[in-house]
Amino acid sequence: MNRRDFIEGMFTNLGALALGVPLVAETLRIGRTPPGSSAGIANSGAITRAPVDREISLIAEPGKLAVGRMGVFERWLYNGKFPGPEIRAKEGERLRITVRNRLPEPTTVHWHGVPLRNSMDGVPDITQPPIQSGQDFVYEFEATPAGSYMYHTHFGLQFDRGLIGPLIVEEKKPNLAYDREYTLMVTDFLPGEPKPLTASAGRGPMGGMMAMMGMQVPPYTALLINGRSSDDPFTFEVAERERVRLRLINPSGATTYRMAIGGHSMTVTHADGRPVEPLSVDSLYIAAGERYDVLVDGKNSGVWPIVAAALEQNLPPARALLRYKDSWSSQLHADAMPEGLSRGRLLQLGDLRSIGSPPWREPSRTLDLILSGGMMTSAWTINGQAYPDAAPFDIRGGDVVLVRMVNQSMMPHPMHLHGHSFQVGNVTKDTVMVWPHMGQAAFEFVADNPGKWFFHCHNQYHMDAGMARLFRYL
Ligand code: C2O
Ligand code: CU
Repeated sequence: MNRRDFIEGMFTNLGALALGVPLVAETLRIGRTPPGSSAGIANSGAITRAPVDREISLIAEPGKLAVGRMGVFERWLYNGKFPGPEIRAKEGERLRITVRNRLPEPTTVHWHGVPLRNSMDGVPDITQPPIQSGQDFVYEFEATPAGSYMYHTHFGLQFDRGLIGPLIVEEKKPNLAYDREYTLMVTDFLPGEPKPLTASAGRGPMGGMMAMMGMQVPPYTALLINGRSSDDPFTFEVAERERVRLRLINPSGATTYRMAIGGHSMTVTHADGRPVEPLSVDSLYIAAGERYDVLVDGKNSGVWPIVAAALEQNLPPARALLRYKDSWSSQLHADAMPEGLSRGRLLQLGDLRSIGSPPWREPSRTLDLILSGGMMTSAWTINGQAYPDAAPFDIRGGDVVLVRMVNQSMMPHPMHLHGHSFQVGNVTKDTVMVWPHMGQAAFEFVADNPGKWFFHCHNQYHMDAGMARLFRYL
């Protein structure tokens, strides 16, 4: 046990109780000397000295959720809502979020995309003990950098019970002008209890075959936008000549979408929360864990569908409406499929360029990863190993780590790294899709935030069945 392990162990044992004890914070500061400089470090210092700017309470509790005309369902919810309440902060504010577990089993909360201190990362048994039923846990971190994030449970398959919500960090100095903004969360909906997928069980006539080939999908019954089904769509208001910022967030258990808006193109301004040079497209793919901010110009009056069509699921697309105030052309276009879903410009990651992203550096560590699984077995693997029976990737502070991935399976794998952002070509992200059938993707990150960081496929069922590893700082 080295010094850092000891210090972290001590902190973990003290858990939430330690949050008020300056001595512990002081010890932690001594234990951390992250090299280089990046946004990650802002959250890596002592956690109790700075005053807190926002106190938030999240109660995780069973509740009832009405979904359009589909009915009322038993779900697990944050503060009785689905998606959970929007947590909104200004860049640089310190948040103290008390999570009260009123579920019949343990839980944790992960702040997806925020490069915070390792002990606040919400991965059970890795960064904290699970919050037991009836217990509370206090998360405290700095809302930095600005961007569109999400929070969600990180315990087992709980994600698909409904424990997700948006986390928005507003820019101190916005780099774009707009008249209004909306958050749009597109999710897959599972009415019952999430269960691991098995290679033998498949639905429908082709089900068994598909399952054997590793193409099994959870039995979702609908796709929702902001918790609303397409028969009772969520409606976003806009006025002629206004510019709207939409924060597109995909906190789905296992679904990738192609999104488009009838009668409008979208100007992509942020990828996974980080600003990019604006790029106008007609549609984009958004994988589980990904976020895109887009601007939409109000210059085509009417009522238009915002549609998210699922890649892995044979379900009617999720649908919301963009409604112009004083529009007299009523429902004219609302039921049509946006043209952008099948033609026009589809966003390619390679076309995006982050603003102020660091140049590509010579890696000091290179990892070649083969993503596979699902064939005949229910395990999903990285280099043949299924987490937790998998060796951690050991790195050192200051390392420039290059990760190259090949997807040998028939399912897409959106791979997400905790605690860091990474470079995919010219784009700064924290989640990157590796497409099926030998799809490839590479990312590079600077090891600037010590700890044990989870790295996994954001398909919850793949993660649960082994497609995960730890990056461990030595
Ligand atoms: Cu959305 Cu392990 O994360
Ligand atoms: Cu996957």
